[in-house]
Amino acid sequence: MTVVPLQPPRRLVEFTLDEQPVRVPEGSTILDACRGAGKDIPTLCEGDTLTPKNACRVCVVEVEGARTLAPACSRRAEAGMTVRTDTERARHSRKIVLELLASSTDLSTTPRAAEWIKEYEAKPARFGADAARVNEEPKVDNELYVRDYDKCILCYKCVDACGEQWQNTFAIAVAGRGFDTRISTEHDAPLTDSACVYCGNCIEVCPTGALSFKTEFDMREAGTWDEAAQTETTTVCAYCGVGCNLTLHVQENEIVKVTSPHDNPVTHGNLCIKGRFGYQHVQNRM
Ligand code: SF4
Ligand code: SF4
Ligand code: FES
Repeated sequence: MTVVPLQPPRRLVEFTLDEQPVRVPEGSTILDACRGAGKDIPTLCEGDTLTPKNACRVCVVEVEGARTLAPACSRRAEAGMTVRTDTERARHSRKIVLELLASSTDLSTTPRAAEWIKEYEAKPARFGADAARVNEEPKVDNELYVRDYDKCILCYKCVDACGEQWQNTFAIAVAGRGFDTRISTEHDAPLTDSACVYCGNCIEVCPTGALSFKTEFDMREAGTWDEAAQTETTTVCAYCGVGCNLTLHVQENEIVKVTSPHDNPVTHGNLCIKGRFGYQHVQNRM
């Protein structure tokens, strides 16, 4: 049974999107309207379970009368506004963002990054081999998840998920300034010496694969990770009475990672260490 939360009806806001009239519930973002109209706007720092951070600016659109481009993921739709999503200026801005990100970080595991780089004709290689990169080894300091900050675009989603928006553990935060800015535990301690409770909610929101299950990291290293060969089965966690939904990702009859549906009214995509990582007993065939 799907639970539909009851909410008061919302007024509709009408505005013009790419020369077409659209109506969206009051409080919707331009991105909500674009998705409703079937428009494909690239996003990285936007997350459907988090408050927009406006960190990446890859989703920018042109709002008539505005001096600057607007991030579609956070700009609310207003009655009477005129929005264009595919202007030369918006496309150029997305291209520059993709070039800067792809020249400084490893986007090889970012879903759709290669597709967007091609679509916007971004040329990250034009900054040459000297482009500033993180160039650090993945941090493998525990058996549950890996932090590979070569792939981090500093979108802060993990910090928000670990902090006040979901977990309230505050195990990770933004450290440093300028080029030295990075996501770090307190005093850069190993995860095992930090406040981390291994809920994995930071992995769930990371858009680039900088944070990943150790199983996924190991399988990618071995060349055996194959999402096309994986099945997903949603079930109910049996560890306690909360009844979180678990989606088991299975490859070759082995659970390789566990997520939770973002629209589940209990979890909103979040889990605890038991639901997220405590699945080994299921496949213990001794
Ligand atoms: S696993 Fe949970 S507690 Fe640990 S850093 Fe990630 S969000 Fe924070
Ligand atoms: S680790 Fe992932 S979620 Fe955290 S800031 Fe980097 S890219 Fe964003
Ligand atoms: S997705 Fe909108 S600013 Fe990053």
